[in-house]
Amino acid sequence: MSAVALIAGDAHPQLAREIARSMGTSLVPASVSAFADGETRVRIEAEVRDADLYIVQPTSVPTNERLMTLALLADAARAAGAARITAVMPYFGYARQDVRKSPGEPRSAQLAGRILRCAGVERMVALELHSPALESAFEMPLIHLRADDLMLPAIRDCGFSRLTVVSPDAGGLKRAQRYAQALAAPLAVVAKTRPRADAAVVQQVLGDVRGRACLIVDDMASTGGTIVGAAQALLEAGAAAVHALFIHAVMAPGALERIGAASVRTIMTTDSVRIAIDPRVRIVPIAPLLAQTLGRLTGRSTLRTEVTDVQES
Ligand code: R5P
Repeated sequence: MSAVALIAGDAHPQLAREIARSMGTSLVPASVSAFADGETRVRIEAEVRDADLYIVQPTSVPTNERLMTLALLADAARAAGAARITAVMPYFGYARQDVRKSPGEPRSAQLAGRILRCAGVERMVALELHSPALESAFEMPLIHLRADDLMLPAIRDCGFSRLTVVSPDAGGLKRAQRYAQALAAPLAVVAKTRPRADAAVVQQVLGDVRGRACLIVDDMASTGGTIVGAAQALLEAGAAAVHALFIHAVMAPGALERIGAASVRTIMTTDSVRIAIDPRVRIVPIAPLLAQTLGRLTGRSTLRTEVTDVQES
C-alpha cells in the first residue's frame, strides 16, 4: 500500500494540523507564497513519490486564490510522482452557481471540479455541499460528508425547549428536514427570493412558529442576509426566540454583526473554514470527522469511533 501523505494548503493550516494529529501523522512540508506580481508559487518540500496524497484546502475567501493554490499543489504532487491525489475541501467554494438559472450563466461548480481534475486531483472529500445535485456533478469520485453527527449533539446541549427547525429557503429544506426528524421537532420554511446576487428578500413563513424557539439551519452564511431576513420574519410571525446554525462560516465582513443585530440568540457553526474565536459563536470542530474519514480511506484507523455518514459517489 502507498504511504499516506497529508499536505496543508494555505486556506486552513490549523485544520490540516489537527487532522494530521488525530491520524497520528505529520504534515508534508509545502510552501505557498506569491511572486511580486501576485502569481501564486507553491513547492512541496519532501518526497511524495508513490504517496497516497491528501491536500487539505477549503476553497474559502479569497476563493480564486485558494482554488488556484489547490490546483498548483495537485500539479506539483502529480509531477513529483504521487500515486493518488485527493483534495480535502471541507468547504467547496463556487458551489452556488451549479445550475444555469438563466442564459449566459456558467456552471461554476462543475468548472471548479474540472480545473482540479485537470491539475491531477482524482478524488474529492467535501462537507455539506450547497446542493445535493452536486453529488453527481464532478467527473471524479466524491466523498460527501454530512455534519449532522457533529451538530446534533451541539444542538441538544443547548437544551432548547419548544423547538422548531427552520429552513431559511426552499433549497435548504431537505437538510432542515433531517435535523427536524433527528430532533423530533416540527419543521417550518421561509420562502425567500433573490432579486440579485447577495440580496435575500423574505416572502412568507410557512409553518407554525408562534411561541416557538426557532432554529434556522443553513449550509452557509456569507453576507448573513438570509439568516437576518429569516430571523426578522420569524420574530414578526411570533417566534419566541431565534437561533441559527450554519455549517460554513464564510462570513463576509460585517456578517456576524448583522446576524447579532437581528436578535439571533445562539450562533452555531463549524471550523470548515478558518474562523476567528468569538464569544458570540459556538464552533464545532470538524477535524475528528475528517480524520476518521481519511482514516477509512487510507485504511488507517484513528482514535475516534466510526463515521457512519460517508457516501462515495
Ligand atoms: C443559499 O441558497 C444558501 O443556502 C445560503 O442561504 C446563502 O448562500 C447564504 O448567503 P447570505 O448569508 O449571503 O445570505
